[in-house]
Amino acid sequence: MPAEQSSSPALENLSEETRTFPPSAEFAAAAVAGADVYERAAADRLGFWAEQARTLDWETPFTTVLDDSAAPRYGWFTDGRLNAAHNAVDRHVAAGHGDRVAILWEGEDGESRRVTYAELAQEVARAANALTALGVGTGDRVAIYLPMVPEAVVALLACARIGAPHSVVFGGFSAEALHSRILDAEATLVITADGGYRRGAASPLKPAVDDALAKGGTAVEHVLVVRRTGGEVEWTQGRDVWWHDVVPQASPEHEPVWVEAEHPLFILYTSGTTGKPKGIFHTTGGYLTQTSFTHRAVFDLQPETDVYWCTADIGWITGHSYVVYGPLLNGATQVIYEGTPDTPHRGRWWEIVQKYGVTILYTAPTAIRTCMKWGEDLPAGFDLSTLRVLGSVGEPINPEAWMWYRRVIGGDRTPIVDTWWQTETGAIMISPLPGVTAAKPGSAQVPLPGIVAEVLDDAGAPVDHGQGGYLAITEPWPAMLRGIWGDEQRFADTYWSRFPGTYFAGDGAKRDADGDIWLLGRVDDVMNVSGHRLSTTEIESALVSHPWVAEAAVVGAADETTGQAVVAFVILRGGEEVVDRPEGEDADERVVATLRAHVGTTIGPIAKPRSILVVAELPKTRSGKIMRRLLRDVAENRDVGDVTTLADSGVMGLIQQGMAKPS
Ligand code: PRX
Repeated sequence: MPAEQSSSPALENLSEETRTFPPSAEFAAAAVAGADVYERAAADRLGFWAEQARTLDWETPFTTVLDDSAAPRYGWFTDGRLNAAHNAVDRHVAAGHGDRVAILWEGEDGESRRVTYAELAQEVARAANALTALGVGTGDRVAIYLPMVPEAVVALLACARIGAPHSVVFGGFSAEALHSRILDAEATLVITADGGYRRGAASPLKPAVDDALAKGGTAVEHVLVVRRTGGEVEWTQGRDVWWHDVVPQASPEHEPVWVEAEHPLFILYTSGTTGKPKGIFHTTGGYLTQTSFTHRAVFDLQPETDVYWCTADIGWITGHSYVVYGPLLNGATQVIYEGTPDTPHRGRWWEIVQKYGVTILYTAPTAIRTCMKWGEDLPAGFDLSTLRVLGSVGEPINPEAWMWYRRVIGGDRTPIVDTWWQTETGAIMISPLPGVTAAKPGSAQVPLPGIVAEVLDDAGAPVDHGQGGYLAITEPWPAMLRGIWGDEQRFADTYWSRFPGTYFAGDGAKRDADGDIWLLGRVDDVMNVSGHRLSTTEIESALVSHPWVAEAAVVGAADETTGQAVVAFVILRGGEEVVDRPEGEDADERVVATLRAHVGTTIGPIAKPRSILVVAELPKTRSGKIMRRLLRDVAENRDVGDVTTLADSGVMGLIQQGMAKPS
């Protein structure tokens, strides 16, 4: 096993975990997935996916299921044509479900809105007409930088309706990060808002768009602005357009643009092992097929009666697949909440569950661990008895958090689905099925029907039960990424070269004695902080871009609440040319505060290191490579392992002394 995995929270309890929770007979009898689903998929994998694809509306039915002629650029359902927005919305209206509520929106400030499928269909059609009037054509890219408001869902679907790939940038990213993503995708339109509500206050968004565009070089012609907070905004005449000036006035009649199954649906940037984020791009037919199937089967969705709530932001893949596409494709009723869980009080989430009678809740382990810290009295004060399925995503869930989630939130009765997947996989890949699988705390357990995953050793051979190795997906799947935007070579190198012809996910995993899969965290230079992916290299580059910093090394250190936390080690520049650097008693402290803020402006607040340590040297091998493993030992207060390969073995002693100093 790679050394990096030793700090994984899942590993600690791995050897002892024997608890299992079989589904109740009642749940099993009504389960959406059906007990024979694994057998059916195994007997005819491509036939199974074709059957799932046929649950969508196709303007031109497909005859090809999988095209592997240009592997690893696989194609699915290639000769079919369809439209994502038609499938997510109009189809349900046509089937007589127009009055069903699609979105139960809860603003952080207490405002709320209900949007039916019929209303959503009209809004999306109007927005599609408005985008066309602003010059957006099929194939053009649209950047979206919005808070969690219903218009965010409308914006994504309006793009899909005209075949314009969307590129959503999380609202917590900085102007600089937004700029580089707009440039890379060559977006011609940005959709944003004046701001959104976070932690009890209006938090502006439009200034970041203005700053990003002021940096120049973009192809952006217009900025479409949703009014949410009513805050003051700067206005560029001719470029900026209010949403309320063009969308409500547009016609609600719109013929969707029918696109080929392999037409790009969206680009979503994610951190990789280099400093430059990767534009993961997904296409239409396969993505919709797998997001709708997994949303139905993994959450046991009963569209007529369930109230589903996924707490993810639209800026991440979970928001794309399990707030926008999956639930809407299935005609679900869902809650969308704008704000933070502790505003105006720490029971806000549970109050929302009670208010809307939420039946399915999908969230991240970091949120569960935070609630554990806040205490079980809080959720106990609300009626959570409507909940019947709980989901977890984004990072390993340690068995203790799993048990707490089941007992305190799930009233000791709900199945929990621990879902493993990635921006790249587009949809859930490994997860128990409620009503079918006997759940095991802390384990994502088994590949879904139609998915073939293996844990491989260094040589690419499947490991025995009880052994660890690397997670690989050995057969193509419908929602797989089709590439990295503008960089085919990086696509091949990153995912398909470690085990030639096989998709390497970048995660370590282990099979237990029963053959169940346990995820053990990343084996590359990618960190997972609160379920968000961050690159060590990207944060190092941000630190080094500050004039005071000569060198930086970043590691992900185990953290009880956030899974991992960013810890940075920096060497400051010496010499005359360094200006304005604090001096005196608390100089280090002030330097650290400035550098943290600098990372915040370069990437975004989520990337700010938990701690930054100013050091005189970094541990390096004789060939000059920074030994992050040793820095992680220091950051996690462990004894430093073998230092014999260091060029200067005294360095670690100095760093540890520095770490011991109160900061
Ligand atoms: O390390 C795995 C972890 O999150 C990574 C993917 O991050 P991202 O593309 O941002 O997508 C997150 C939401 C799907 C994976 O490589 N990860 C995701 N889900 C789990 C997980 N680790 C353990 N258990 C999970 N259920």
